Amino acid sequence: MARLIFPEGFLWGAATAAYQIEGSWKKDGKGENVWDRFTHSKYRIHGGDTGDDACDHYRLMPKDVALMKSLGLQAYRFSISWTRVLPGGRGRINPKGLGFYDRLVDKLLAAGIVPNATLNHWDFPQALEDLGGWPDRRSADWFAEYARIVFDKLGDRVAMWATHNEPFIVAFLGYATGDFAPGRADYPSAVRAAHHLLLGHGQAVDFYRQSGCKGKIGIVLDHPWYVPASSRPEDVAARNRVFDAGQGLFLDAVFHGRYPELLSTWSKSLNPDIQPGDMKQISRPVDYLGINHYSTVLIGFSARGGFLKNAREEYSAPGMGKNSVGWGFNPAGLTAVLESIRDKYGNPPVYITENGTTVADTPDAKGFVEDWGRVGYLRSHLRALHTAMEKGCDVRGYFVWSLMDNFEWAHGYGPRFGIVRVDYKTQRRIPKRSALWYREVIRQNGLDE
Ligand code: BGC
Repeated sequence: MARLIFPEGFLWGAATAAYQIEGSWKKDGKGENVWDRFTHSKYRIHGGDTGDDACDHYRLMPKDVALMKSLGLQAYRFSISWTRVLPGGRGRINPKGLGFYDRLVDKLLAAGIVPNATLNHWDFPQALEDLGGWPDRRSADWFAEYARIVFDKLGDRVAMWATHNEPFIVAFLGYATGDFAPGRADYPSAVRAAHHLLLGHGQAVDFYRQSGCKGKIGIVLDHPWYVPASSRPEDVAARNRVFDAGQGLFLDAVFHGRYPELLSTWSKSLNPDIQPGDMKQISRPVDYLGINHYSTVLIGFSARGGFLKNAREEYSAPGMGKNSVGWGFNPAGLTAVLESIRDKYGNPPVYITENGTTVADTPDAKGFVEDWGRVGYLRSHLRALHTAMEKGCDVRGYFVWSLMDNFEWAHGYGPRFGIVRVDYKTQRRIPKRSALWYREVIRQNGLDE
């Protein structure tokens, strides 16, 4: 059978995030973060779930690394909990918290797995939120200082760094819609938060370069594909507004050193307080761009569609259905995202830092899950990725979301994105069919066409 082979050196991995898997929310001197506070507030999370215990990875880490090795992973993308390292967000360092990541990195290296560390996967220190959070300009310095401390400790061994994971979600779901922690609802604050996340990113990149470390540093952005509901100009314009207010905001800033025109033309509330030198700081060259891609959304003009005047609808390619949280299934969207990055942003090296899906997993008596639906999703998206590479997109690696089932933010533990099943009662890990399938993809550096 014909095979789709990826280039030599293509990096295959899986991803997780600290708050979603670690648990031990108070252990060894860890400080409170905004997700601790948010999940402990009433009626914020489905079923009242919290990340207090999650997958107990803080305790089970050595076993989890052994599991990764048994699945043939070449790289592991994890995030660092800011308040394990700095319980108050700044000032006193907590050696035990930092020590956990030190051991994790050593274990990964001993297992032949490349560590890929994200500094901010949403768990911002509560003490700093109380001082104003990301909408406060000082947050950029707080973040960069935290980054410097982590580079000092781990920079000699971690080959890949990301400053932020999906800063759009932090800024807009955290501060505009209030869906996510810290649950504020004020659009202008969200725009300032976005600007300060970007500033902090640029400052951290500077610290990384100054540290003399030899790895790569980049930023990870969420990037659905957006399709206009029709070719009518008002639908196309609505589609472009949604892109500019979300992905364009971050991509234009990092790669072109400016914000999309929308910010100055559409609404004053979209204007952050830009100081001289900010855009230069934000657009420091990065070594790669991380893309998290899940789905495609149809966007049309809607006169009652909020201030961006849009209506959204999940899109699935014909006959493909939706996943268990209602997201569409359209592999061609991944190819389109990558081509758009190639064309608009100078074809930077890209890693797919997240891609995956939740399906209604049904374990058999032994806890094994035949998740062929997930295999179908992953296979079709890897084909779409390969197509993009044939069209000249510079993609260097791929990380499945997620290594294991975990705390799915406002949804709690309902949706399962893992290729490994977690039995939350016993904390047993059971690789699903998709994990075995993925191990084979990695072994062959490709898949059946
Ligand atoms: C996030 C993950 C999340 C996943 C699935 C991404 O937006 O980075 O933390 O679990 O999507 O919703």
